[in-house]
Amino acid sequence: MNVRHVAIIMDGNGRWAKAQGKVRTEGHFKGVEVLHDIAIAANDLGIEVLTLYAFSTENWKRSADEVGYLMKLPAYFFSRFLKELMEKNIRITMIGEMEQIPIDTQKVLQSAIDQTKNNTGMVLNFAMNYGSQREIVLGIRKYTEEVLSKKRENNLEVGEFDQYLMTSEFPPLDLMIRTSGECRISNFLLWQLAYSELEFVDIPWPEFTKETLATCLEQFKKRDRRFGGVKS
Ligand code: IPE
Ligand code: IPE
Ligand code: MG
Repeated sequence: MNVRHVAIIMDGNGRWAKAQGKVRTEGHFKGVEVLHDIAIAANDLGIEVLTLYAFSTENWKRSADEVGYLMKLPAYFFSRFLKELMEKNIRITMIGEMEQIPIDTQKVLQSAIDQTKNNTGMVLNFAMNYGSQREIVLGIRKYTEEVLSKKRENNLEVGEFDQYLMTSEFPPLDLMIRTSGECRISNFLLWQLAYSELEFVDIPWPEFTKETLATCLEQFKKRDRRFGGVKS
């Protein structure tokens, strides 16, 4: 069974750091290295799209120090790894809203997106200032505008709604992995998850390895995806 689109909620950085007697930001720092390793592993495994939850619309509630630190990580990540991502033909994309992100971080993200836009390999898609409820509301607004401006009839079908979401260009979500043992979705890809397989792993993100990813994919391959039907 082919896995085309995998999404990961990279959770547990803070608790990992605390358990090591470190401050939360050290967990995020380690998390960036793991992110790199997993992106490369996913590319090697032939995954088409890897969507990573990097910052949620709710994460602004954290301290200014922590938010400020998280917003500096893209600059660190791309300065260290963009060359390798280019060599591997990986394309960087983003879902979420750019506007509220600090301008320096916006520039870094936009530059990585622009520099890799013609790459044809795996898509490394960052969910940054992303919240799925917001995504759905924005999709509804867009649809409504099309109806009001008479571009279309008010006859939306379920199968068409994907085109109004931030993930419109990507294949359906096959597998969603969340680290850290939390069994919740935390406002991630609510619509897209309708028939995805879910894996909740007990280890924090800084301890996630390419072997853990391989195990998740093996589990996925054992699943019987029926999509509401019956297998003969
Ligand atoms: C995930 O780790 C990273 C982000 C949400 C940005 P956390 O920072 O949520 O770590 P825990 O869940 O508090 O351990
Ligand atoms: C989800 O993790 C968001 C990211 C990993 C970026 P959180 O740590 O923010 O989620 P909750 O607060 O445990 O639900
Ligand atoms: Mg968390």
